[in-house]
Amino acid sequence: MIFAKSSTRTRVSFEVGAYQLGGRALFLSSKDIQIGRGEPISDTARVLSRYVDGIMIRTFDHAEVEELARFATVPVINGLTDLTHPCQVLADVFTIKEHLGGWDGKRVAWVGDGNNMANAWLEAATVLGFELRLACPEGFEPNHAKFEAAKNSGCVMVTEVPEEAVEGAHVVNTDVWASMGQEGEAEARRNAFKGYTVDSDLMRLADPKAIFLHCLPAHRGEEVTADVIDGPQSRVWDEAENRLHVQKALLATLMGS
Ligand code: CP
Ligand code: NVA
Repeated sequence: MIFAKSSTRTRVSFEVGAYQLGGRALFLSSKDIQIGRGEPISDTARVLSRYVDGIMIRTFDHAEVEELARFATVPVINGLTDLTHPCQVLADVFTIKEHLGGWDGKRVAWVGDGNNMANAWLEAATVLGFELRLACPEGFEPNHAKFEAAKNSGCVMVTEVPEEAVEGAHVVNTDVWASMGQEGEAEARRNAFKGYTVDSDLMRLADPKAIFLHCLPAHRGEEVTADVIDGPQSRVWDEAENRLHVQKALLATLMGS
Protein backbone atom coordinates (compact mmCIF):
# COMPACT_ATOMS: atom_id res chain seq x y z
CA MET A 1 0.00 0.00 0.00
CA ILE A 2 1.65 3.19 -1.23
CA PHE A 3 0.34 6.38 0.37
CA ALA A 4 1.25 9.87 -0.85
CA LYS A 5 -1.65 11.31 1.19
CA SER A 6 -3.02 10.73 4.70
CA SER A 7 -5.57 8.01 5.44
CA THR A 8 -7.43 6.45 8.34
CA ARG A 9 -10.18 4.32 6.77
CA THR A 10 -8.46 3.19 3.57
CA ARG A 11 -5.23 2.24 5.28
CA VAL A 12 -6.77 0.45 8.26
CA SER A 13 -9.52 -1.35 6.30
CA PHE A 14 -7.07 -2.69 3.71
CA GLU A 15 -4.55 -3.67 6.36
CA VAL A 16 -7.09 -5.36 8.65
CA GLY A 17 -8.95 -6.84 5.68
CA ALA A 18 -5.80 -8.45 4.30
CA TYR A 19 -5.00 -9.84 7.75
CA GLN A 20 -8.51 -11.26 8.20
CA LEU A 21 -8.20 -13.04 4.84
CA GLY A 22 -4.90 -14.61 5.88
CA GLY A 23 -2.62 -12.18 4.07
CA ARG A 24 -0.36 -9.27 4.97
CA ALA A 25 -0.31 -5.63 3.94
CA LEU A 26 2.71 -3.33 3.91
CA PHE A 27 2.27 0.38 4.58
CA LEU A 28 4.66 2.37 2.37
CA SER A 29 4.63 6.12 2.73
CA SER A 30 5.71 7.53 -0.62
CA LYS A 31 8.04 9.85 1.31
CA ASP A 32 9.96 6.86 2.65
CA ILE A 33 10.32 4.80 -0.52
CA GLN A 34 12.39 5.79 -3.55
CA ILE A 35 9.35 7.11 -5.45
CA GLY A 36 9.66 10.13 -3.15
CA ARG A 37 13.22 10.68 -4.44
CA GLY A 38 12.17 10.43 -8.06
CA GLU A 39 12.46 6.73 -8.90
CA PRO A 40 10.15 6.27 -11.90
CA ILE A 41 6.71 4.79 -11.23
CA SER A 42 7.33 2.32 -14.07
CA ASP A 43 10.45 0.94 -12.35
CA THR A 44 8.68 0.82 -8.97
CA ALA A 45 5.81 -1.11 -10.59
CA ARG A 46 8.13 -3.70 -12.10
CA VAL A 47 10.12 -4.20 -8.91
CA LEU A 48 7.14 -4.39 -6.52
CA SER A 49 5.47 -6.89 -8.86
CA ARG A 50 8.35 -9.28 -8.14
CA TYR A 51 7.60 -9.12 -4.39
CA VAL A 52 3.86 -8.72 -3.81
CA ASP A 53 0.50 -10.04 -5.06
CA GLY A 54 -1.13 -6.64 -5.53
CA ILE A 55 -0.50 -2.92 -5.13
CA MET A 56 -2.84 -0.30 -3.68
CA ILE A 57 -1.88 3.32 -4.21
CA ARG A 58 -3.26 6.63 -2.91
CA THR A 59 -1.75 9.61 -4.67
CA PHE A 60 -2.46 13.00 -6.26
CA ASP A 61 -2.12 12.61 -10.03
CA HIS A 62 -4.41 9.93 -11.48
CA ALA A 63 -1.90 9.37 -14.31
CA GLU A 64 0.49 7.87 -11.74
CA VAL A 65 -1.99 5.09 -10.95
CA GLU A 66 -2.43 4.41 -14.65
CA GLU A 67 1.34 4.31 -15.13
CA LEU A 68 1.68 1.91 -12.20
CA ALA A 69 -1.04 -0.33 -13.63
CA ARG A 70 0.57 -0.27 -17.08
CA PHE A 71 3.90 -1.57 -15.80
CA ALA A 72 2.81 -3.77 -12.88
CA THR A 73 2.17 -7.46 -13.48
CA VAL A 74 -0.04 -7.72 -10.37
CA PRO A 75 -3.44 -6.03 -9.75
CA VAL A 76 -3.31 -2.30 -8.95
CA ILE A 77 -6.05 -0.74 -6.79
CA ASN A 78 -6.80 2.99 -6.79
CA GLY A 79 -7.01 4.02 -3.13
CA LEU A 80 -7.91 7.64 -4.11
CA THR A 81 -6.51 10.14 -6.56
CA ASP A 82 -7.42 13.76 -7.27
CA LEU A 83 -9.71 12.36 -9.98
CA THR A 84 -11.65 9.58 -8.27
CA HIS A 85 -12.08 7.34 -5.21
CA PRO A 86 -13.57 4.07 -6.49
CA CYS A 87 -13.07 1.96 -3.31
CA GLN A 88 -15.14 4.48 -1.34
CA VAL A 89 -18.03 4.56 -3.79
CA LEU A 90 -18.12 0.75 -3.82
CA ALA A 91 -18.65 0.85 -0.04
CA ASP A 92 -21.26 3.60 -0.51
CA VAL A 93 -23.38 1.68 -3.00
CA PHE A 94 -23.09 -1.38 -0.77
CA THR A 95 -24.44 0.78 2.09
CA ILE A 96 -27.36 1.83 -0.13
CA LYS A 97 -28.08 -1.84 -0.86
CA GLU A 98 -27.92 -2.65 2.85
CA HIS A 99 -30.25 0.15 3.96
CA LEU A 100 -32.53 0.74 0.97
CA GLY A 101 -32.52 -2.72 -0.60
CA GLY A 102 -30.78 -1.65 -3.82
CA TRP A 103 -30.21 1.30 -6.13
CA ASP A 104 -32.73 0.62 -8.91
CA GLY A 105 -35.15 3.53 -9.09
CA LYS A 106 -33.25 5.43 -6.41
CA ARG A 107 -32.27 9.10 -6.64
CA VAL A 108 -28.86 10.01 -5.20
CA ALA A 109 -28.07 13.66 -4.44
CA TRP A 110 -24.57 15.08 -4.21
CA VAL A 111 -24.20 18.52 -2.61
CA GLY A 112 -20.88 20.40 -2.65
CA ASP A 113 -17.58 20.08 -4.44
CA GLY A 114 -17.39 18.31 -7.81
CA ASN A 115 -14.34 16.48 -6.48
CA ASN A 116 -12.91 12.94 -6.62
CA MET A 117 -15.93 11.56 -4.72
CA ALA A 118 -18.41 13.31 -7.02
CA ASN A 119 -16.52 11.81 -9.98
CA ALA A 120 -16.62 8.37 -8.34
CA TRP A 121 -20.42 8.72 -7.98
CA LEU A 122 -20.61 9.55 -11.69
CA GLU A 123 -18.64 6.37 -12.44
CA ALA A 124 -21.01 4.35 -10.23
CA ALA A 125 -24.09 5.88 -11.91
CA THR A 126 -22.58 5.06 -15.32
CA VAL A 127 -22.27 1.38 -14.37
CA LEU A 128 -25.37 0.93 -12.19
CA GLY A 129 -27.80 3.36 -13.82
CA PHE A 130 -29.33 5.07 -10.77
CA GLU A 131 -30.39 8.72 -10.92
CA LEU A 132 -27.68 11.14 -9.75
CA ARG A 133 -28.25 14.85 -9.15
CA LEU A 134 -25.22 16.96 -8.29
CA ALA A 135 -25.41 20.47 -6.83
CA CYS A 136 -22.07 22.25 -7.23
CA PRO A 137 -21.21 25.96 -7.30
CA GLU A 138 -20.07 27.43 -10.62
CA GLY A 139 -16.43 26.58 -11.17
CA PHE A 140 -16.57 23.48 -8.94
CA GLU A 141 -18.37 21.10 -11.29
CA PRO A 142 -17.28 17.44 -11.59
CA ASN A 143 -15.00 16.10 -14.32
CA HIS A 144 -16.54 16.82 -17.72
CA ALA A 145 -15.71 13.46 -19.37
CA LYS A 146 -17.09 11.49 -16.43
CA PHE A 147 -20.25 13.59 -16.48
CA GLU A 148 -20.73 13.02 -20.22
CA ALA A 149 -20.20 9.25 -19.79
CA ALA A 150 -22.79 9.11 -17.02
CA LYS A 151 -25.21 11.24 -19.05
CA ASN A 152 -25.00 8.79 -21.93
CA SER A 153 -25.88 5.81 -19.79
CA GLY A 154 -28.37 7.17 -17.30
CA CYS A 155 -30.06 10.02 -15.61
CA VAL A 156 -27.60 12.59 -14.25
CA MET A 157 -27.82 16.34 -13.88
CA VAL A 158 -25.70 19.14 -12.43
CA THR A 159 -27.31 22.19 -10.90
CA GLU A 160 -26.11 25.11 -8.80
CA VAL A 161 -29.20 24.76 -6.57
CA PRO A 162 -28.85 22.25 -3.67
CA GLU A 163 -32.65 22.08 -3.22
CA GLU A 164 -33.06 20.87 -6.83
CA ALA A 165 -30.63 18.01 -6.24
CA VAL A 166 -32.04 16.96 -2.88
CA GLU A 167 -35.78 17.14 -3.72
CA GLY A 168 -37.17 13.58 -3.34
CA ALA A 169 -33.68 12.04 -3.05
CA HIS A 170 -33.26 8.67 -1.35
CA VAL A 171 -29.59 9.30 -0.58
CA VAL A 172 -28.04 12.68 0.31
CA ASN A 173 -24.33 12.77 0.11
CA THR A 174 -21.55 15.31 0.56
CA ASP A 175 -17.81 15.63 1.19
CA VAL A 176 -15.32 18.23 2.43
CA TRP A 177 -15.04 21.52 0.57
CA ALA A 178 -11.23 21.40 0.51
CA SER A 179 -9.78 17.99 -0.34
CA MET A 180 -6.31 16.76 0.51
CA GLY A 181 -3.82 18.97 -1.32
CA GLN A 182 -6.24 21.95 -1.36
CA GLU A 183 -5.65 23.07 2.23
CA GLY A 184 -4.32 26.45 1.02
CA GLU A 185 -7.68 27.13 -0.69
CA ALA A 186 -9.78 26.33 2.40
CA GLU A 187 -10.78 29.94 3.17
CA ALA A 188 -11.67 30.80 -0.44
CA ARG A 189 -13.63 27.56 -0.72
CA ARG A 190 -15.58 28.27 2.48
CA ASN A 191 -16.82 31.44 0.75
CA ALA A 192 -17.52 29.74 -2.58
CA PHE A 193 -19.55 26.97 -0.91
CA LYS A 194 -21.76 29.19 1.25
CA GLY A 195 -25.32 27.83 0.98
CA TYR A 196 -24.13 24.29 0.20
CA THR A 197 -24.21 22.96 3.78
CA VAL A 198 -26.35 19.85 4.21
CA ASP A 199 -28.55 20.82 7.16
CA SER A 200 -31.89 19.60 8.49
CA ASP A 201 -33.85 22.09 6.32
CA LEU A 202 -32.24 20.63 3.19
CA MET A 203 -32.76 17.05 4.44
CA ARG A 204 -36.48 17.76 4.86
CA LEU A 205 -36.76 18.11 1.05
CA ALA A 206 -35.47 14.57 0.54
CA ASP A 207 -37.57 11.41 0.70
CA PRO A 208 -38.77 10.91 4.32
CA LYS A 209 -36.74 7.67 4.50
CA ALA A 210 -33.63 9.22 2.91
CA ILE A 211 -30.23 8.30 4.30
CA PHE A 212 -27.26 10.64 4.67
CA LEU A 213 -23.79 9.49 3.56
CA HIS A 214 -20.34 11.07 3.87
CA CYS A 215 -17.06 9.34 3.03
CA LEU A 216 -15.35 11.01 6.02
CA PRO A 217 -13.39 12.77 7.37
CA ALA A 218 -16.12 15.41 7.88
CA HIS A 219 -16.05 19.07 8.88
CA ARG A 220 -19.16 19.65 11.01
CA GLY A 221 -20.50 23.16 10.45
CA GLU A 222 -19.07 23.33 6.91
CA GLU A 223 -20.38 20.78 4.39
CA VAL A 224 -22.75 19.19 6.95
CA THR A 225 -24.28 20.21 10.26
CA ALA A 226 -23.73 18.08 13.36
CA ASP A 227 -27.45 17.33 13.72
CA VAL A 228 -27.49 15.71 10.26
CA ILE A 229 -24.26 13.69 10.40
CA ASP A 230 -24.94 12.61 13.99
CA GLY A 231 -28.71 12.33 13.47
CA PRO A 232 -31.13 9.47 12.78
CA GLN A 233 -30.85 9.55 8.98
CA SER A 234 -27.06 9.31 9.00
CA ARG A 235 -25.51 5.97 8.00
CA VAL A 236 -21.91 7.17 8.00
CA TRP A 237 -20.65 4.63 10.56
CA ASP A 238 -22.11 1.70 8.61
CA GLU A 239 -20.63 3.30 5.49
CA ALA A 240 -17.21 3.46 7.15
CA GLU A 241 -17.53 -0.14 8.39
CA ASN A 242 -18.42 -1.24 4.88
CA ARG A 243 -15.01 -0.08 3.68
CA LEU A 244 -13.63 -3.16 5.47
CA HIS A 245 -16.08 -5.63 3.91
CA VAL A 246 -15.67 -4.15 0.45
CA GLN A 247 -11.85 -4.08 0.63
CA LYS A 248 -11.96 -7.77 1.55
CA ALA A 249 -14.24 -8.45 -1.43
CA LEU A 250 -11.81 -6.54 -3.66
CA LEU A 251 -8.78 -8.42 -2.34
CA ALA A 252 -10.54 -11.79 -2.66
CA THR A 253 -11.72 -10.96 -6.19
CA LEU A 254 -8.40 -9.61 -7.44
CA MET A 255 -5.93 -11.79 -5.52
CA GLY A 256 -7.87 -14.76 -4.21
CA SER A 257 -6.78 -18.17 -5.39
N1 CP B 1 -12.96 7.96 3.19
C1 CP B 1 -11.64 7.73 3.19
O1 CP B 1 -11.05 7.32 2.19
O2 CP B 1 -11.01 7.97 4.37
P1 CP B 1 -9.46 8.00 4.63
O3 CP B 1 -8.91 9.22 3.97
O4 CP B 1 -9.33 8.05 6.13
O5 CP B 1 -8.84 6.76 4.06
N1 NVA C 1 -12.39 14.48 -1.28
C1 NVA C 1 -11.65 14.02 -0.12
C2 NVA C 1 -11.96 12.59 0.16
C3 NVA C 1 -11.26 12.02 1.37
C4 NVA C 1 -11.54 10.57 1.60
C5 NVA C 1 -10.17 14.20 -0.36
O1 NVA C 1 -9.71 13.89 -1.48
O2 NVA C 1 -9.47 14.68 0.52
